[in-house]
Amino acid sequence: AYRAAIFDLDGVIADTARLHLAAWQQLAEEEGFRLPADADERLKGVDRMASLEIVLEGASRPYREDEKLALADRKNQRYQQLVTQLTPADLLPGAAQLLDQLAEWNIPMALASASKNARAVIDGLGIAHRFDYIADAARVKHPKPDPEIFTLAARGLGVEPALCVGIEDAAAGVTAIKRAGMYAVGIGDDRVLAEADQCVPSLADFRPDSCFEARR
Ligand code: BG6
Ligand code: MG
Repeated sequence: AYRAAIFDLDGVIADTARLHLAAWQQLAEEEGFRLPADADERLKGVDRMASLEIVLEGASRPYREDEKLALADRKNQRYQQLVTQLTPADLLPGAAQLLDQLAEWNIPMALASASKNARAVIDGLGIAHRFDYIADAARVKHPKPDPEIFTLAARGLGVEPALCVGIEDAAAGVTAIKRAGMYAVGIGDDRVLAEADQCVPSLADFRPDSCFEARR
């Protein structure tokens, strides 16, 4: 059995992908352009500045670097506004039950999220007490699919990567978990997440006893 669980946040535990998208949409409207049609899938797991580059594919003019920083900042203000409205009802299906079960089994848990707003999100969802370690996205130099953030989370928990299970909804995230040498659970479409060791449509379909057992 594996010894620790390392979770992505947005799209795995938290129903926030729609809030990120809404904030980008608001920004695009203010600037007078449309998001690329496949923005929804492509923005998953991608950090803020890289997301902006995707969003700007639809823009009608080039933006300077200082303008880009200001745009990213504005999107973040819109997003933070939306995050203040999060409640436990915004946990994705199966998330609360899984966190409860793993806590009961004494499985250490960490977050490996690309989001610099992870702390505010888990506070709103009422699950901050479940995590023994939060890998700080601001300290990570190389974004997913680089394994850095998962490796950092394993080190934070003090558990060898080979004994960790990583859980992700983005293809780049699953790649990061595999490169970190962990067991990967993909949440979503198994054609998109083909690299995962196990793929389920939602956390509600994940059987914790397929990876973990109670510890004392
Ligand atoms: C990821 C989300 O978890 O975090 C992305 O899937 C988001 O959509 C990224 O862009 C960065 O988040 P933030 O909150 O730091 O802008
Ligand atoms: Mg995600």
